[in-house]
Amino acid sequence: MFARHNLLTIDDLTNAEIEQTLSTAQSFKEINEREIKKLPTLRGLTVINAFFEPSTRTRTSFEIAGKRLGADVINFSSSGSATAKGESLADTAATLDAMACDIVVVRHRYSGAPALLAGRMRGHIINGGDGMHQHPTQTLLDLFTMQEHIGTVKGKTIGIVGDIAHSRVAGSLAPALKRLGATPVFIAPPTYLPAVPEELGAEVAYALDDILADLDVVYLLRIQGERADGRAVPSLREYATHFGMNRLRMERLGAGAIVMHPGPMNRGVEISADVADDARCVVLDQVTAGVAVRMALMYLMVGGGTDVAAT
Ligand code: NCD
Repeated sequence: MFARHNLLTIDDLTNAEIEQTLSTAQSFKEINEREIKKLPTLRGLTVINAFFEPSTRTRTSFEIAGKRLGADVINFSSSGSATAKGESLADTAATLDAMACDIVVVRHRYSGAPALLAGRMRGHIINGGDGMHQHPTQTLLDLFTMQEHIGTVKGKTIGIVGDIAHSRVAGSLAPALKRLGATPVFIAPPTYLPAVPEELGAEVAYALDDILADLDVVYLLRIQGERADGRAVPSLREYATHFGMNRLRMERLGAGAIVMHPGPMNRGVEISADVADDARCVVLDQVTAGVAVRMALMYLMVGGGTDVAAT
């Protein structure tokens, strides 16, 4: 059984719970292909999307997921909320809790903000990305997409390329891959590597071209300009020359290898426009998986016991 009240980091889930979420997501993906996509599982429940940082994909994806399961979904962003008037996160938590919401999805620039809310609210808290720390639902959708395209991740080599030091996406993806039997490899200039890459379960390579042909997945990251104090590379053009995925590098990819990106993509920096539109670049499959995975997670969290496939 799925016993999680909150999802604050990917480490909260056992391997079995990750697998359960992905297989439940498979059923939801099929439901999402139907003409009528709505189920009554969360009817009467309220989902609040509390986004204190910009988001397109994650917020929309949670909103669609909640609505497809019949919940009432409320969105608020910091610019339109009391936070902009100086309210503390603890007071915001108390306010939301007093409204008896059932699931709160939090995105915040401070690592640990979802954990703070979890200590102060009765509803289920889901981390929608906190600072440079974790983005666990991104990891679930990434694992789902990898499984779809390359089969089990066990024994596979996943290159995570770019601004790893500032990336919550890498912070949750690498340890999950390692635990599921894959080999995550961070590929970046030294200034974009975390202080101790091994803590995240990853190996390190400094030259994309040396390792490209051995990768099953090339997972590209956006340079997190909003988190770094000034750029850690001499120029974006130089970065693109050494670490960007382009047409020539695509020719050297192994058979069956894919390119992934959590979005938003910076075309011309970490990915060239033609690679972004190449069939081996599966970013839109990641987006599709995001809705199914988030439906599965909320369904399992609130204790949906019935077989989804039978719905
Ligand atoms: C990522 C994020 O916000 O952490 N985007 C996302 O959720 N899909 C990655 C990024 O902003 O680069």
